Amino acid sequence: MPGCQRRKSLFESLQSATADAILGLIAEHKNDPRPEKIDLGVGVYRNEQGVTPVLDVVKRAEQMLLDSQDSKSYIGTAGAADFNAAMQALNFGAAGDTDRLTTIQTPGGSGSLRVAASLLLRARPGASVWVSEPTWANHPPLLAGAGLDLQPYPYYDAKNKVIRIDEMLDALRSAPMGDVVLLHACCHNPSGLDPSVEQWQAITDVIEERELIPFIDMAYQGFATDLDADAYALRHMAERVPEMMVSSSCSKNFGLYRDRVGTLSLLAADGKTAAVVNSQVNNVVRTIYSVPPDHGAAVVSIILNDDELRSAWVVELTAMRERLRSMRVLLTEALAQKAPDHDFSHLLRATGMFCFLGISPDQVVRLKKDFGVYMVDSSRINIAGVTPANVSYLADSIAATLQAG
Ligand code: LMR
Repeated sequence: MPGCQRRKSLFESLQSATADAILGLIAEHKNDPRPEKIDLGVGVYRNEQGVTPVLDVVKRAEQMLLDSQDSKSYIGTAGAADFNAAMQALNFGAAGDTDRLTTIQTPGGSGSLRVAASLLLRARPGASVWVSEPTWANHPPLLAGAGLDLQPYPYYDAKNKVIRIDEMLDALRSAPMGDVVLLHACCHNPSGLDPSVEQWQAITDVIEERELIPFIDMAYQGFATDLDADAYALRHMAERVPEMMVSSSCSKNFGLYRDRVGTLSLLAADGKTAAVVNSQVNNVVRTIYSVPPDHGAAVVSIILNDDELRSAWVVELTAMRERLRSMRVLLTEALAQKAPDHDFSHLLRATGMFCFLGISPDQVVRLKKDFGVYMVDSSRINIAGVTPANVSYLADSIAATLQAG
């Protein structure tokens, strides 16, 4: 009888999803009772006390916002015009001074990538997106999950710990005309290795030859060299190619991770097309999350549009970058002392938060189990997890793990 049939649960066919390789480490590390544990996993900045601080300048801007904000009504699909203009100038510099460019506010860099993916599917449904091998662990699921086809291009030579530039260029030369190339503007995640100025120019040559579309992910502006140098590739390409897409994030350089602040900028061949692109991208936003969150972007806008706050931000950003650099030096020196048979000089060739330690997945597991040292399976480490207080224990743990084979 139909009335006796067991009710079929909507969710019964689902299996548990595997924990995210990066975010899963946050909980694992948190639940580890060992006081000496070290978190080199998720890419968040930490200070010498191991804390991810709210920047002073953000606190000040938040107070100003609290005092002045008179409405929580919706902002439009594109977000706030003053924020978008300030971010466009920060990312593109003088290359942003064109009516071919349109910028919208997005929920972080990931939100920006997701909107770009949907726009791409509307604009060029048959195109593949070429991604570096390896790339940020969330790039493939995010972009493929939106429906895009992905193709890998060689990037990191794990043996020699350098960029495989010739193979990368060959792969891009073989890409069908009109395909899209996802590039990391600076502080490549996970390798920490960026192309030199000459290599960026060679990449741009191939992009021009093959009429490829650069899709630049800029999540770490200011963490490699400085705000302008880190935008070199983006600005160089913007001067040379007719069309490009740029996702940028304020998570790291403003420390606004949980407030979800980013932009998507789209460069079109001419101003008329840019207006069409603008209407389409706003329509995409409406169909995904309707309107972006406001708070973090309003804070960034206050900072970037006030000379004094902006200077104070640059000082704090510089201090973060310099601490990361000095922790690279400290760890490399400690490893040279404690594991002299191994070469870790590539740590110094990398910039920003990340680099590969260059150990096996099995050694990654043992470092976690035996010493409470947490990193992504690939042995990507977040250098911000290193402090003067833990570097000796960390180097000892790595040396002991290497010695055990
Ligand atoms: C990372 O790569 O660790 C960061 O970008 C954080 C994240 O969301 O994965």
